[in-house]
Amino acid sequence: MAVHVAKSAGFCFGVKQAVEMVEQQLQGGVKIATLGPIIHNPIMVDRLAQQGVLVIDDVAQTPAGYTVVIRSHGVAPSVYRQLEEKNIPYIDATCPFVKKIHRLVEEHSGQDSLVLLAGDPAHPEIRGIVGYCKGDCLVFQSEQELREKLHSFPDRGAKTVILAAQTTFSVKEWTKCVEFAKNGCTNLRIFDTICIATMLRQKEAEELAKASDIMIVVGGQNSSNSTKLADICRAVCKTVFVQNADQLSLEDFARIRIVGITAGASTPAFIIKEVQKVMSDVINTNQTDELSFEEMLEQSFKTIYSKEKVTAVVTNVSPNEIAVDIGTKHAGYVPFNEFTEDPNAKLEDLVKVGDEIELMVMRVNDVEGTAMLSKKRLDAIAGFEKIVEAEESGAVLDGVVVDVVKGGVFAVTNGVRVFIPASQATASRNQQLETLLKQPVQFTILEVNRQRRRAVGSIRAVLKEQRKVLEDKFWEEVEVGKHYKGTVKSLTSYGAFVDLGGVDGMAHISDLSWSRIKHPSEVVSVGDLLEVYVRDIDRENKKVSLGYKKTEDNPWEVLKRDHQVGDSIKVKVVSLTSFGAFAQLIPGVDGLIHISQIANERINKPSDVLSVGQEVDVKITDIDFDKKRISLSIRALLATEPEATADNEAPAVYEAAPPEAAE
Ligand code: F3S
Repeated sequence: MAVHVAKSAGFCFGVKQAVEMVEQQLQGGVKIATLGPIIHNPIMVDRLAQQGVLVIDDVAQTPAGYTVVIRSHGVAPSVYRQLEEKNIPYIDATCPFVKKIHRLVEEHSGQDSLVLLAGDPAHPEIRGIVGYCKGDCLVFQSEQELREKLHSFPDRGAKTVILAAQTTFSVKEWTKCVEFAKNGCTNLRIFDTICIATMLRQKEAEELAKASDIMIVVGGQNSSNSTKLADICRAVCKTVFVQNADQLSLEDFARIRIVGITAGASTPAFIIKEVQKVMSDVINTNQTDELSFEEMLEQSFKTIYSKEKVTAVVTNVSPNEIAVDIGTKHAGYVPFNEFTEDPNAKLEDLVKVGDEIELMVMRVNDVEGTAMLSKKRLDAIAGFEKIVEAEESGAVLDGVVVDVVKGGVFAVTNGVRVFIPASQATASRNQQLETLLKQPVQFTILEVNRQRRRAVGSIRAVLKEQRKVLEDKFWEEVEVGKHYKGTVKSLTSYGAFVDLGGVDGMAHISDLSWSRIKHPSEVVSVGDLLEVYVRDIDRENKKVSLGYKKTEDNPWEVLKRDHQVGDSIKVKVVSLTSFGAFAQLIPGVDGLIHISQIANERINKPSDVLSVGQEVDVKITDIDFDKKRISLSIRALLATEPEATADNEAPAVYEAAPPEAAE
């Protein structure tokens, strides 16, 4: 037999808030009277009564010196007035979702309106909401009842109709009511006020019921939402509706394979756990029918103590906790944060029903019959011994950073939190500690305090050691011309420092680009991944010079590939001199247009005809790759004109200004 508990079973947000408010007041010594039972669960109400909480039906019954608590169902405005008139202190625990209905009804109702309220007219929530209606109001529990009441309501056509629902109303019935109202009312405003928690709970209950042979619905018989859950489950499979585990009858579970458990919004967790525990016992009994009388007797007396180590069997896994059978009468559970240190972990990934695990008992509540256990603490004890050993041996530990605090980070290894001071957390002071969060890290242990069970570690020591190994390997293997991939670590005005993995090399500004650049940042940025080659090695001073420029990018190589003497090409004038104009053919290569080659007619100076930035068509008349000289001519492209005078003639070849002066 398998037992599955609905994830949404138990206290909803509004109920939890109300119960916590009462408990807080009690802790502060305040005498509390609740206006009606704080929740619709007699067991919980009895428990609070034992702590002195009075239940009153009317404000007038408030004893002197008591503070009144308005429960999550809320109350009508008249109740607030009475409390204020009588000067009675009160705490309002009305669920915010209910308050929202109050606001809607108060705002939208008026003398010309008709409020249609889907819900139980006897339920305190509905009585409270009705108090906010300013005009007519009809309360109904089904589509059929709505149909009948609306039919006999006079002049409904003249009214603005407002349709809303009790927060725990059945979603299915509500859908039917909406459909009917849409067809039956002309001036209709619909407010879907069913609480989302209720919707999810009902949906999950139905799905669980479909997958189960029997459903156990745990809740007070006076609880509206628990009753509805039972109705929903009953429509799908055999269902028992119980207030607590005592009401379970084991005959109901004969020949059952899968049991589903859900619970109303007002059912405390301990009651759900108790029911779950009983069902786990049924499973165990079925499995251990052959236990001897002595064994059974011994089990019934078996008890547990705090800090005891026990072996438990997982009976249920939910996102927030796991339920375990520890072989005693206690319903064992392990809250999420007692199972793992990793806040991102999912319990379903770590453990499954039927697993046997070792746990430490943290807290036993014999009255409730529950025991809280921890895997984390047990792991931490074993883990701490490993930490102590690692301190002695200098071993490197694997962990994950789970927390970043002011002075450093906490990493978890073997279930133990190890503090790593900021100075020991990163290789460089520039790295932000936040970048380590949730990252796997390796560290050594610097210091252990056995009494306080604390340890201090160092990630930096491991990184330093790793770098040393890489550095030794680098110097063993490095040779001029060898290519490396490296990351730019920093830039200066004269070059870029590149981390080659263990060793930093420097690429001089002149080795970064074929073009003239003023600063390395024109070509590379910190963090860039570069492919570089070793230009020079200084082993004595441990210095490596790098080159980044690729031969194929050399502009003279590009020129050789793409152009030849005789080509016509468009160039840009970059400077003017008395003997001619320099023009750029491709980035990094300029050629000269001699004054005699600028025009057919005689000119006094190049600036009479050309200006810097101007684009002109030229012919390549000569290229000297050895001397890096190029001669260009505009005139060669012009129609033939009379010969230039002799004093304007000049050699067609000149010496080009080398573009890569820094080379
Ligand atoms: Fe509030 Fe929804 Fe619970 S309305 S009281 S959170 S069921």
